[in-house]
Amino acid sequence: MNKTIMITGANAGIGKEAARQLAMLKDTEKIYLACRSKAKAIAAMKDLETETGKQIFKIVEMDVSDIQSVRDSISSIEPIDALIMNAGGNGSKTPKKITRDGVTQIFATNSLGHMVLLDELLKTNRLRKVALYAGSEAARGIPMMGIKRPNLKTSSIEEFASICDGTYFNKHTPVTDLYALVKYTTAMCLMATARKYPNIRIITMSPGGTIGTEIATESPIVIKAIWKMMVPIMYSLGLMHKVGVAAKRYVDGISNESYKSGVFYASKNRMPVGDVVDQSVFMKELKNIIFQDNAYKAIHRFIK
Ligand SMILES: NC(=O)c1ccc[n+]([C@@H]2O[C@H](COP(=O)([O-])OP(=O)(O)OC[C@H]3O[C@@H](n4cnc5c(N)ncnc54)[C@H](OP(=O)(O)O)[C@@H]3O)[C@@H](O)[C@H]2O)c1
Repeated sequence: MNKTIMITGANAGIGKEAARQLAMLKDTEKIYLACRSKAKAIAAMKDLETETGKQIFKIVEMDVSDIQSVRDSISSIEPIDALIMNAGGNGSKTPKKITRDGVTQIFATNSLGHMVLLDELLKTNRLRKVALYAGSEAARGIPMMGIKRPNLKTSSIEEFASICDGTYFNKHTPVTDLYALVKYTTAMCLMATARKYPNIRIITMSPGGTIGTEIATESPIVIKAIWKMMVPIMYSLGLMHKVGVAAKRYVDGISNESYKSGVFYASKNRMPVGDVVDQSVFMKELKNIIFQDNAYKAIHRFIK
């Protein structure tokens, strides 16, 4: 059982709902809400206290798109049992902009800070049991939603590094393709991390296509409009699910040891709903240890 849990991006959407569901489990003693906005974190904490009747939430101010912010915010964190790396999305209105750490904003938001957070916790023995990263079915492609399957030429360190710093893409590449490759590269990196720390369970779990979150709020206007139009239609066709179902995937992932370390779990179906399975069933390259190590080395080039 996980007594102490940290969730990044816990003030909204799936992260906030996961905090609510975890607080209702009898063994949970403390939940760190790691958020970039203190005001939003306080508002979320008040909601969660009211909804659960529990006062077990603690705020950690953390911008996961900034390495220094991650390092500063966890310097005084006590050991935790479980980490849910949930913060993410399209990386604001300028997803291709380069951050001061040398990666695209979308890569920084979904990946770089989380890799720093996980590394620091592992290196200092402050993660006792399990880490879960919010993946996405986009990482294996969702043709019906116009998201291409990642198709790397060499899967070399250079190629993965070009996904991190954006040189892999051109100015016309849709943000959905960037998002898919960021989630794919991170899942591969985490498989390498899982091999380095065999006593900790490290998994990637897609929450699935989810209605009612704020994922497109800060997106470029076209994406925002398409998302707003598509989501209700897809939900009515049973091709997306509610936030409670999505958060339950996280809760199951960290609580149930049958979810194996070093695996990327996402929907069994073509569309992002329903049961989850090991995605290497669909993508043999996920099992390639050299590719995993290359993704790990590429990301760690940007961690100084
Ligand atoms: N919704 C879907 O259909 C879907 C499908 C597959 C995967 N996912 C993944 O699931 C995760 C949660 O998505 P969601 O739909 O719940 O989105 P959401 O409602 O937009 O919530 C995202 C959370 O991440 C936080 N966040 C964003 N950038 C951050 C940063 N730099 N530092 C710290 N926190 C940051 C947001 O904080 P602010 O309020 O401050 O922006 C918010 O709390 C994401 O990783 C997403 O990629 C979602």
